[in-house]
Amino acid sequence: MHIGILGGTGPLGRGLAVRLAAAGHQVAIGSRDAARATAVCEELRGAWPDRSLALAGMGNAAAVAAGAGTVVLATPWEAALGTVADLGEDLAGATVVSVGNALVRQGREAHALVPPRGSVAAMVQAALPASAVVAAGHHLPARSLADLDHDLRSDVLVCSDHPEAATAVVSLLDSVPGLRGVAAGSLAQAAAIEAFTAVLVTVNMTHRVHSTLQLAGLSAWA
Ligand SMILES: NC(=O)c1ccc[n+]([C@@H]2O[C@H](COP(=O)([O-])OP(=O)(O)OC[C@H]3O[C@@H](n4cnc5c(N)ncnc54)[C@H](OP(=O)(O)O)[C@@H]3O)[C@@H](O)[C@H]2O)c1
Repeated sequence: MHIGILGGTGPLGRGLAVRLAAAGHQVAIGSRDAARATAVCEELRGAWPDRSLALAGMGNAAAVAAGAGTVVLATPWEAALGTVADLGEDLAGATVVSVGNALVRQGREAHALVPPRGSVAAMVQAALPASAVVAAGHHLPARSLADLDHDLRSDVLVCSDHPEAATAVVSLLDSVPGLRGVAAGSLAQAAAIEAFTAVLVTVNMTHRVHSTLQLAGLSAWA
């Protein structure tokens, strides 16, 4: 698949990019500054010279086109609406994966904020009525994602009001070794999924770890 990542130069974007590219996908890392995205791609390819990662760096608008209908919105949550504001027509018909968590750090804890419409994903869906917004990836630890030598094993909750798009994102996640997409209902679930990230981040800070989510009771990992 071809996948574009808006704000792909950050830790989460980089981590997703290398994991997806290592799984054989072609990934366009988008940025407000195309030169920065190009430099990030060179850095990532240099870090994994034996992996032949299909990564290309470009501006955010170009990454939407290169994504061929599948775009990850990986900016800070406060920047999500501003980032998609000028891209609405380009994103029409596309699957937009919202990974944003509205959190605030308070000492040794993270606390969840309530964004307009209750979740970042719902906020983005309202701004992009012609796109299929899928919420996914909120509990992935960027540092572990970016280390291809790290034996990742994470369940990724996926929710959307567009079932076909959600199914496609589950399949995309399943194509990445160490990730398993788990369909988790409509976009109404995004509020709880996003807010739980505050708990996970607090656990990580308390125990100095990079934990992620694994659900008991599902079928065994393939
Ligand atoms: N970090 C994690 O472990 C993690 C895990 C799960 C989910 N998430 C979510 O994933 C998203 C990205 O996280 P991150 O830690 O990678 O974020 P980040 O580093 O703060 O931002 C990612 C990229 O967004 C762009 N950006 C920053 N400010 C912007 C603005 N005002 N307008 C437009 N673009 C802006 C920057 O790229 P350019 O300057 O190149 O444009 C930046 O490199 C967040 O919504 C976060 O909640 C993060």
